[in-house]
Amino acid sequence: MDFQRQTNKRLYEEHAATLQLLARVERVVSGRAGAYPPAAGDPEWPAFARTLLSAIEVEVARHFEFEERDLFPRLEEAGDGDLAALFSEEHVTIRAVAQPLADLLRQASAGNLTQQQWQTLKTLALEFSERLGSHAQKEDGALLPVLEQLLDEDTDRALFGAYAAG
Ligand SMILES: [Fe+2]
Ligand SMILES: [Fe+2]
Repeated sequence: MDFQRQTNKRLYEEHAATLQLLARVERVVSGRAGAYPPAAGDPEWPAFARTLLSAIEVEVARHFEFEERDLFPRLEEAGDGDLAALFSEEHVTIRAVAQPLADLLRQASAGNLTQQQWQTLKTLALEFSERLGSHAQKEDGALLPVLEQLLDEDTDRALFGAYAAG
């Protein structure tokens, strides 16, 4: 998608990266990328678990906080409060599954989960993927086009600068 505003370009890229990661998550936990649960000493698993954990705790957390702090209030002011409320609620339901998933991933990076816990991890991972994937696509379709109209050049530069600076 072609956006003029830096902020929208960045969010769109982050959504695309997220969707790619989620596709990998689905391949891994459904056993299409090697055995699941992974064999003891599987060299791929710790790297995958670290990547997913960091996505949950760093990238997604930061992205959500930015949207909640700097974008949803602007949407609300512009009269799109329903949309802002919907996206905020989705963040809540995504975090609700991300947190137990992150807990299990931390335990699983050592590779020592019970059979039951591996199943739970799989269920949580698929649910996380479902919720976050549909959310990101919905924002691409409904949030970014609205923001494209809403953000003037100076606001965009200030927002993007602050976000990119971390
Ligand atoms: Fe969001
Ligand atoms: Fe987003």
